[in-house]
Amino acid sequence: MGISMTEAQDRQRLFELVFGHMATQTVATAARLKLIDAFGDEERSGAEIADAIGTDPAVTTQLCRALAALGILAEVKSGQFRVTGTGALLRTDRTDSLHSFARVFTDPAIQATWRELDTAVRTGKSTFDTVHGTTFFQYVAGDPELSTFFPAALGQSAAQTAAALPGSYDFAAFGTVADIGGGSGTVLAAILAAHPGLRGILYDAAPAVARAAETLAAAGVADRCTVIPGDIGAGAPAGADLYLLKNVLHYADDERAGTVLGNVRRVVPPHGRLLIVDPALPETVDGSLPDSMYLSDLHMRLIGAGRGRTQAEFESLCVRAGFTVKGLTLLPPPIAFSLIEAVPDDSHDPGRR
Ligand SMILES: C[S@@+](CC[C@H](N)C(=O)[O-])C[C@H]1O[C@@H](n2cnc3c(N)ncnc32)[C@H](O)[C@@H]1O
Repeated sequence: MGISMTEAQDRQRLFELVFGHMATQTVATAARLKLIDAFGDEERSGAEIADAIGTDPAVTTQLCRALAALGILAEVKSGQFRVTGTGALLRTDRTDSLHSFARVFTDPAIQATWRELDTAVRTGKSTFDTVHGTTFFQYVAGDPELSTFFPAALGQSAAQTAAALPGSYDFAAFGTVADIGGGSGTVLAAILAAHPGLRGILYDAAPAVARAAETLAAAGVADRCTVIPGDIGAGAPAGADLYLLKNVLHYADDERAGTVLGNVRRVVPPHGRLLIVDPALPETVDGSLPDSMYLSDLHMRLIGAGRGRTQAEFESLCVRAGFTVKGLTLLPPPIAFSLIEAVPDDSHDPGRR
């Protein structure tokens, strides 16, 4: 007796999931070999590409076919390939390139960490430190490839949010926005450029803000922004009425997140606001959201103590730090971030009244 259509689809889906690491490796190889750059805008055979990048013609042709099956290339006629819209995002010369992002998430050090997922599930602990003998951020700083690609990947993902964020919140209602853990200033520069009446404070570790002057100058906002190097675990600068925490709490466990929020709480004025920009997981897994939201929740757990949080979890973190959440807004897809706005609220802490 044959199998039903539903069962056949279930089996096919499971095969695809099991083969998922091969798809990742195929895309990773295209990124490592800069195969998409070798295509440019032309149609090429696998042998021509092999000639251009110095690889084996037969296996390069197999790689091109697999990339065509995955939608990175298209086989326009037998043996002739061209880059698709998805594949073109791996070009290194695009301002909106995702090449560095692909390099980071497919890096052998990251893959070795993911191979230990079962250990993390058994022990409840992150695996990066055990596998590599050091923390993720220390490893990145000392690794020749990751130290280049990780900041670039953050910049690539920040650029996407930076394009959407200035129009997604009423920044014009404030006088000064402080971006806590704001990295090299890509997001803050975009907000200030879109709101000429606004001033900025960029606060992050010294190495992270080292190139901020360049970013702020390129956006024409350097004269409206103060850059302060410092430790987000030790404090936050006073002087702003809006405090932004973008993609920072995601990397932190609840204790660390509470410390960072508490530091902001100590300096935010009574009329000020806190704006958290982070992925917010729905209370129940929502099949319409990208799988990457849940995979990156696990990823944060594997590389450190971070995690994804639901709105209720953000609310409870905020309450413990003396804030009340006023609302949550989703940024437009494909950005998987939400805006969580909170106000200082002394009623949560009798000691503060
Ligand atoms: C994932 S990045 C986010 C950067 C930026 N907000 C964005 O969205 O592009 C996290 C940032 O937190 C900063 N950070 C983490 N721990 C820190 C610490 N102890 N002191 C200062 N900055 C810290 C890192 O330097 C990094 O720039």
